[in-house]
Amino acid sequence: ERNPVGKLLLFGATGDLARRMLLPSLYGLHADGLLPEGLTITGSARGDLDDDGFRAEAKKALDEFLPADRKDEAALSGFLKRLQFQPVDLSDENTFAPLAEKIGDVSGGLAIFLSTAPSLFEPAVKGLEKVGLAGPTVRIGLEKPLGYDLASSREINDTVAAVFPEERIFRIDHYLGKETVQNILALRFGNSFFEPVWNARGIDNVQITVSETVGLEDRAGYYDGAGALRDMVTNHMLQLVALIAMEPPARFTPTDVRDEKAKVFRSLRQIPPEEVPHCTVTGQYVGGAVKGEIVKGYDEELGRDSNTETFVAIKAHVDNWRWQGVPFYLRTGKRMPVRRSEIAIQFKPVPHSMFAGRGGLLQPNKLVIRLQPEEYIELLVMAKEPGLDREGVRLREVPLKLSLDAEFAGTRRRIAYERLLLDLIEGDQTLFVRRDEVEAQWIWTDAIRAGWAANGMKPKHYPAGTWGPSAAIALTERDGVTWQDD
Ligand code: BG6
Repeated sequence: ERNPVGKLLLFGATGDLARRMLLPSLYGLHADGLLPEGLTITGSARGDLDDDGFRAEAKKALDEFLPADRKDEAALSGFLKRLQFQPVDLSDENTFAPLAEKIGDVSGGLAIFLSTAPSLFEPAVKGLEKVGLAGPTVRIGLEKPLGYDLASSREINDTVAAVFPEERIFRIDHYLGKETVQNILALRFGNSFFEPVWNARGIDNVQITVSETVGLEDRAGYYDGAGALRDMVTNHMLQLVALIAMEPPARFTPTDVRDEKAKVFRSLRQIPPEEVPHCTVTGQYVGGAVKGEIVKGYDEELGRDSNTETFVAIKAHVDNWRWQGVPFYLRTGKRMPVRRSEIAIQFKPVPHSMFAGRGGLLQPNKLVIRLQPEEYIELLVMAKEPGLDREGVRLREVPLKLSLDAEFAGTRRRIAYERLLLDLIEGDQTLFVRRDEVEAQWIWTDAIRAGWAANGMKPKHYPAGTWGPSAAIALTERDGVTWQDD
């Protein structure tokens, strides 16, 4: 049941995420008439902006990051009127009284979005509580990173839980806000013909690739302490694993959906330290060329030597009845040849080929779910090539393709944060990550890190613009599996 709040408070309102994603998303919701009437948006950050100064900053951000066809003068001025600003320094407890005063009455509901370093969560929630901004009508959204291992994530969760109950905590994994990611649920549970083969009898292996062309960007401080495993696998990629592997929830509700995802995380096979070198590959990019442009290596971008991995590939298993023996191959990296998020489900080969020797090799069927940049679903099937071959038939793999871009061409593509901010404002937790999910994710990734340490594993170098170290190819080829490529 949706229960919209009347006020929104944005910590980190002048930061990069706010400028690139949050303000454009809120504008999008406003322009489409989806924000509650009268919803005020209070931005907060260090510094001494006033309301008008913040509106000017917000306008600049929208000018820069909104696509031209989304700019509408009337909508823009209406949106800016919702904004106000209150300077805060979260580490200073005197900050909170003026903030509470600026926000005023919260009996109509307040949603807070905390887009700040997790080290500030504690003073933030304590300060909010002290001035009455944490009561039953207040909910709080938390942006990653939620810790860097199980212990630190528990600490963060405990800190927030001391003030907010779980039903009012909204942990963001922006992958869950992507249309195509939600489409995995539609595909699996809105159709009948996948389910009978969606298991170890029908599926040989699952491959998930999230490749990016960007490098370190301006995030050295965060990224070098995190690395690809913590930055991408613990959260986004494991969420994709869960959506592919989960049992059908009884209802599309926060509890039912998250219960099933949590079960998948608990079923992930912990990789023992001695197995880690065989089941994982780490890499770090050195200089090379991406999309025809010469780029620097990671160490050079960072300005010092580092052992942080910018690429990781993992062979994972979900140890339950449905998935026994089915490898889930995961790989993600920066400075890859293309930006692509994709899931490839490879089905088992036919049990017997009547074409053997008379028409070439049969390729096992594959279902490819392309999440970005394009959005499509493609089923690779064998078909007969036209022709009058006397020796047999010539078979070829051809795509049965559903382009979601083309099918839904009339509908605007939304930013993932539009969905998530709307759900935060309206109080629907389905697409937010529950505490037990986060902790199970860390337990699994911590074991991998422990294996890296125990074996003294260092990332292998790969030239920018390639698909990672060759060991990542060997990881699947050893099992007779080839990474899905175009
Ligand atoms: C973020 C990571 O969570 O996701 C970034 O911190 C990464 O390193 C980004 O670039 C990828 O998101 P998207 O939506 O571009 O796939």
